[in-house]
Amino acid sequence: MNQPAFPGYPINRPRRLRSNPLLRGLVRETELSAQDFILPLFVRTGTGVRKEIASMPGNYQLSPDTLIDEVGAAADLGVKSFILFGIPPDKDPEGRIALHEHGIVQEALRGLRKAFKQDVLLMTDECLCEYTSHGHCGILHEIQGRTDVDNDATLPLLAEQCVSHAMAGADVIAPSGMMDGMVQAIRKGLDAAGFEHIPILSYAAKYASGFYGPFRDAAESPPQFGDRSTYQMDPSNSNEAMREVALDIAEGADMVMVKPALSYLDIIHRVKGEFGLPVAAYNVSGEFAMVKAAARNGWIDERRVTMEILTSIKRAGADMILTYHARDAAGWLKAG
Ligand code: PBG
Repeated sequence: MNQPAFPGYPINRPRRLRSNPLLRGLVRETELSAQDFILPLFVRTGTGVRKEIASMPGNYQLSPDTLIDEVGAAADLGVKSFILFGIPPDKDPEGRIALHEHGIVQEALRGLRKAFKQDVLLMTDECLCEYTSHGHCGILHEIQGRTDVDNDATLPLLAEQCVSHAMAGADVIAPSGMMDGMVQAIRKGLDAAGFEHIPILSYAAKYASGFYGPFRDAAESPPQFGDRSTYQMDPSNSNEAMREVALDIAEGADMVMVKPALSYLDIIHRVKGEFGLPVAAYNVSGEFAMVKAAARNGWIDERRVTMEILTSIKRAGADMILTYHARDAAGWLKAG
């Protein structure tokens, strides 16, 4: 932004605009709203399940019935968008159970759709890591003496998973596996099945991050060997994130995500500035757990720090924030 040349102190005193809370309100540049939030939820088979995730206080593994209560309670606070993660009863090397018409996410979607009609927005995380016995995000193969995810063999499974979720009632499809060509494969699959109206929110710039630790307990999906650095991005790279985003847009992504959020505010800012399309940021499990742990120790003011973090993510350029703080933050916004 070009700042006009202006006289310095004492003619210019920035504190004048900070003297009064009403004036501060008028000049505030970034404001959070419950509409900005997408709450991640974990669903597993069974009934009456409400199992707290130790490293993510206030977040639970839920069964399809308790999930309905949870969504209702969040919606009452103004949180109307959700992203579902499934914890299946069995896993196999190809994650086949992810594609099943009566899979856990499919059942959860049908239940929610019936209970809430169009009053909530239901997104689905599309990846195989929760469903594969080895915990990687696709089918494995041997290549030059090492085991790795077979990119192209994984694509049809992802497309099938997405179609199955769309059939069960998903409003937005969010592929997170970082496979090359996944958006194209999914777009084609959805279109061929008559779901050309369903948007894709691509996890376009997803980094191989240590901040996913608590999530892997929540979703019971840690890789059984190695890590995800042959498909998720190197945290050192920024230009590469722009290429990932450009590719996903070319393949048909309607919205793109940067993940994690806090250590990647520069990436969020660049993506918004360079591409302009709707940007989501994922305030991930480790970022959430750090705040909760410090707050429980009395080392930080939880409300203040949480709102500061969420505001910073929006200020950086995110239009929407996936966050485990959604309920708390919406409650605080409501209370004023
Ligand atoms: C699935 C997926 C992960 C997260 C979202 N989708 C885990 C991973 O990539 O290992 C992490 C979310 C979080 O930490 O809150 N691929």
